Amino acid sequence: MQILELMKQRHSVRKYQDKQIEKEIQDKLNAYILKCNQESGLNIQAFYNEPNAFKNPNVTYGWFVNANNYIALIGKNEETAGYYGEKIVLKAQELGLNTCWVVLTYDKEKVQFNKNSDEKLICVITVGYGVYPGRERPSKTIDDVLIVEDEKLDNLNQIVEACLLAPTARNLQRFKVVCKNNNIDILSDGGEYADIDLGIVKCHCDLIMGKTTL
Ligand SMILES: Cc1cc2nc3c(=O)[nH]c(=O)nc-3n(C[C@H](O)[C@H](O)[C@H](O)COP(=O)(O)O)c2cc1C
Repeated sequence: MQILELMKQRHSVRKYQDKQIEKEIQDKLNAYILKCNQESGLNIQAFYNEPNAFKNPNVTYGWFVNANNYIALIGKNEETAGYYGEKIVLKAQELGLNTCWVVLTYDKEKVQFNKNSDEKLICVITVGYGVYPGRERPSKTIDDVLIVEDEKLDNLNQIVEACLLAPTARNLQRFKVVCKNNNIDILSDGGEYADIDLGIVKCHCDLIMGKTTL
C-alpha cells in the first residue's frame, strides 16, 4: 500500500477486541522494533498480554478498553522516540493492527519496561485489534501550517498533507512546515510533548519524501 494511504487509514484506537496478537504478527513487529532500535540507539520494547498498565479499577484511563499490549518507548531523546515510534505505528497498521500513542492515561507504576540508568520511559503506544478502525479527526489546513520562503517543491501539497496526518498530543498540531532552498524544515511551535510530536511529524515528512522507508 502507498505510504500516504497507510497514513490516511491510521487513526487512534482506544477500544480493542479481547483477541491476542498472533505469534507470527508479534514476531514481525518485534523484528521491526529491533531494526528501529539498531538504527536509532533507542531501547523500545513490546509487551503482549500485559493488561495491568491500563487496568487499575480506581482510575479511568481515558477511553481505553482491552489495552492488553503496548510498546514502551525507552531512550534518551524524545524527538527520536517520536520519529521511530511513528514508524512502528505505521508498520503495525500495515500488519493489520491498530494503535494509540499514550503519554498520560496509563498506570506508570504498573507499566513493564527495562531501562538503563541514562534512559527514561518517554511514553507508550497501545497496539491490538480495534473494535473499530478509528475515525478521521479535525485538522488544521495546509495554509495554517505551510510557510513558503522560496521556490515550491513539486509535491509540496502532498508533503504537507502527510504532515497533517501525523498524530500529535491532544491533536494540537503545533508545527510549521517551512519550504526553503528546495528543502523542507519542520519547526515546532513548542508546548508540552512538542518534541515527541516533532519527531512524529518529521517521520511522516521523511516517508513521503522517500528519505526513509518503513
Ligand atoms: C505524544 C502523544 C501523546 C498522546 N497521549 C495521549 C494520552 O495520554 N491519552 C490518549 O487517549 N490519547 C493520547 N494521544 C492520542 C492523540 O489524542 C491523537 O493522536 C490525536 O487526537 C490525533 O488523532 P489520530 O491519532 O487519530 O490522528 C497522544 C498522541 C501523541 C502524539
